[in-house]
Amino acid sequence: MKLYNMYIDGQWFGEGYETIKVINPANGELVGEVPYAGEKETNQAINVAHTGFKKWSSLTAYDRAGYLRKLYQLMMEHQEELAEMMTLEMGKPIKESRGEVQYAASFIDWFAEEGKRIYGETIPTHAGSKRLQVWKKPVGVVAAITPWNFPIAMLTRKMGPALAAGCTVVIKPSSETPISAIKLIELCEKAGFPKGVVNLVTGSSSKITKAIMENNKVRKITFTGSTEVGKILIRQSADQVKKLSLELGGHAPLIVLDDANVDTAVKGAIASKFRNTGQTCICANRIYVQSGIYDEFVEKFAKAVKGLKVGNGMDEMVDVGPLINKEGLEKVENHVEDAVSKGAKVVAGGSPYTKENVGFFYTPTVIKDVNESMVVMEEETFGPVAPIQKVETEEEAIQLANDTPYGLAAYVFTENVARGMRVIERLDYGIVGWNDGAPSAAQVPFGGMKESGVGREGGHEGIDAFVETQYVAIGME
Ligand code: SIN
Repeated sequence: MKLYNMYIDGQWFGEGYETIKVINPANGELVGEVPYAGEKETNQAINVAHTGFKKWSSLTAYDRAGYLRKLYQLMMEHQEELAEMMTLEMGKPIKESRGEVQYAASFIDWFAEEGKRIYGETIPTHAGSKRLQVWKKPVGVVAAITPWNFPIAMLTRKMGPALAAGCTVVIKPSSETPISAIKLIELCEKAGFPKGVVNLVTGSSSKITKAIMENNKVRKITFTGSTEVGKILIRQSADQVKKLSLELGGHAPLIVLDDANVDTAVKGAIASKFRNTGQTCICANRIYVQSGIYDEFVEKFAKAVKGLKVGNGMDEMVDVGPLINKEGLEKVENHVEDAVSKGAKVVAGGSPYTKENVGFFYTPTVIKDVNESMVVMEEETFGPVAPIQKVETEEEAIQLANDTPYGLAAYVFTENVARGMRVIERLDYGIVGWNDGAPSAAQVPFGGMKESGVGREGGHEGIDAFVETQYVAIGME
């Protein structure tokens, strides 16, 4: 079985370590192994990233863009290989994996250019003998802790702006999907990034995070994952006042109002809910449909969901792959069981998909007549289950939508422009899709309000996160 190594200071190593086994969630097969490293290796990576920072940050933005553009080209050339590894590691349908590689590469492409637009300022002076300026500087060594649900895109959304701004990086990929990240680093090596600029450590999350938190050479942590872990990182980062960007959990409401185009709403709800088997932070977790359109929406949506093909993501025709692991599947089962026990009705799916009797599959599911007492309306499901609650008014939909500690993404379907704007103004969410179930892109700010995170990734805010402001007062006498 192939061992995929760690990358520190331009060297690959990992022979002789205990390993983490990476298992294909579609069939239980071993995909590969990665070293189980800890604090020592993380500190090595941080030290070389710190040494590498001096040289990398003193290159021009144009020079750094050259490396990033080369990486972008290599990603496009190796699109199929990257996509296949993602599908093997985490089950995503291959057509979505190809889409993810393009999405991931778009961050590298966009930030290669955005690095050239990190401008300072000249501020009008209050004294003739002084000049006042604002300079922008890269924050330093960045630790990027990345999730399994988008193993490459969430890495490039962090790495792209960090490298473009002049930072060096130490990456800790998810132990569920480390090989996709390693494949990307192989391309960084091919692109010729200088030693120490990009480093990757696999292994114990707690030990690696401890080293990151205790080493004061790390000035910034960028993390995508659960709110629970995000809160731990906030506490742990306090001692050294490390900068944080956190993209945390969500519980997205999707509101369909009486004046929506039902077909558009069904299409948007399918895209939002079932992308990545419902394992996205921004996927619709609760659907609120106004009473005048409720029956029609439920019927058309359930029909469309029954048409989704479930199976091993390597099959070109598959729309919905497996859940990432047993815990993921159990959570989905519990949410459906709880809702049904409290009176919800299953109109599509509603059971594990046991055809092959292996893998963590769950049939795409729609449940109607749901209410706030059900766990699925409160906890992030992270699976292919769409609960639908009937609402009478726009006001009721807004109240229910905002009644959560999360504030990442929300969706609204209405053809009435004034109504759409009125509703969105009152939604406490960092991202809103209006008649759109797929709002993500490299050039837009992605991130949440409330307990869904700190900061934004993507767009110009995504690079500001890796830059310090330095105010310079210049005496002229
Ligand atoms: C996520 O689930 O956090 C990422 C989804 C996206 O970028 O669209």
